[in-house]
Amino acid sequence: RLPEPFTVPLPIPEVARPVSPGRYEVTQRVAAVEILPGLRTEVWGYSGTFPGPTFELRRGSPAVIGVRNELPVPTSTHLHGGVTPPGSDGYPTDLVVPAGYSSAHGHPGEVLHPVVKDYRYPVEQRAATLWYHDHRMDFTAPQVWRGLAGMVLVRDEEEDALPLPRGERELPLMICDRSFEEDGSFRYPHTAHSTGAGGHSAGTHGAGTHGMGGGAHGLDDGTHALDPDYLEGVEGDVILVNGAPWPVAEVTAARHRLRLVNASNARRYRLTLSPKARFTQIGSDSGLLAAPIDHDTITLAPGERHDVIVDFLNYPPGTHVTLLNTLSNGPQGKVMRFVVTRRERDDTAVPATLSRPPRAPRPVTTRTFDFRRTNDSWTINGHRYQPGVPLASPRLGTAEVWRLTSDFHHPVHVHLAHFQVLARNGRRPDATDAGWKDTVDVRPYEVVDVLARFDGYRGRYMLHCHNLEHEDMAMMADFEVV
Ligand code: C2O
Ligand code: CU
Repeated sequence: RLPEPFTVPLPIPEVARPVSPGRYEVTQRVAAVEILPGLRTEVWGYSGTFPGPTFELRRGSPAVIGVRNELPVPTSTHLHGGVTPPGSDGYPTDLVVPAGYSSAHGHPGEVLHPVVKDYRYPVEQRAATLWYHDHRMDFTAPQVWRGLAGMVLVRDEEEDALPLPRGERELPLMICDRSFEEDGSFRYPHTAHSTGAGGHSAGTHGAGTHGMGGGAHGLDDGTHALDPDYLEGVEGDVILVNGAPWPVAEVTAARHRLRLVNASNARRYRLTLSPKARFTQIGSDSGLLAAPIDHDTITLAPGERHDVIVDFLNYPPGTHVTLLNTLSNGPQGKVMRFVVTRRERDDTAVPATLSRPPRAPRPVTTRTFDFRRTNDSWTINGHRYQPGVPLASPRLGTAEVWRLTSDFHHPVHVHLAHFQVLARNGRRPDATDAGWKDTVDVRPYEVVDVLARFDGYRGRYMLHCHNLEHEDMAMMADFEVV
């Protein structure tokens, strides 16, 4: 029942409209949507859509987003890449709970907001491609899989002044993979509890035990035993862009700006265009680069973003240009297709100087965070996640070198602090590591040094693996900005 690739038109998520200046309201709800042609898929979506609406925010214009939870489960919303005060950062135990919900066995320190929470975003950061998604303790992976994710575009004057493609020629592209049952519903692995397969006893981690169930509460016993169905993260066999399987988009033979977001739970992509053309990278996770960089391929680990310009004038009208993922074969090696329609007047350009990113201050110290599997869990510095127990206390306004080491692919994400990649195994970082970032792909047995600056707010934040199953299996840590 899967569609032929490149037959479903690329959808563009709706842009959220404020209900009053600076105030948005969005309701998380269950909805049936058509993802596979002719079938209905139940999604848990912001506004009942998948992806949720795109929020276009402006630097200097604070926004409040009132999130109403009409789902059968608690949620917590994190603005990924946001410089956000701790109370609105989507801490995993800071939950918006459905009407009538009570947590008999809550995590220590759990905060329950009945039905609605106002998330406050000062938006004092540079123009960037951000995204938002659920961050509920133990259940982030299955809840994002069901649809709780969307994009945020921060704009500012520095970017407005550039002659970049905009309007119809600026495409936000949220890439993720999913699997489906015959009836069109999402398929996500279950454990012994729900399927009778395997030999697990009680106490497997949240995603496994309660994965797609409604109304389940988080586990309180602190066990996050490794389950083979989740061990390396969950990948789907259908590649979706903006929620559509292997879509197709018509483009004119002119420059287009593609905002690439990897919103997959665990899948990494190495993107290339066929027939070959360059990606001119203008931005990374946290905003515009100082100067553009050309790439033949773009590697995107879960959580990472790349802001690129593709000039379709390189192709004669009528050309089918396919976006491929060279890390996979077969259907998973295809992402989407662009069909070049006609020539169009193009006044855009990619200037040699794009922006003046903040300079990195001198680091005051170096800390190591080791991402590793132990006998019974994915850990950071040997610890399973314990809410409220910070592993580091950097000072506000300083910078530190964080050395990230690992035994596997772990896309490491730091909340609040943006960083620059200094080195991989002591050598120069990859060309696609350029700029200020918030997520870095740490590959097996690699040592990645990043320079992180702690700006914005004091308080409790976190770093974690953005393989969402690893995250749910406790590969997270708090840090406290003091
Ligand atoms: Cu995108 Cu803490 O996550
Ligand atoms: Cu990981």
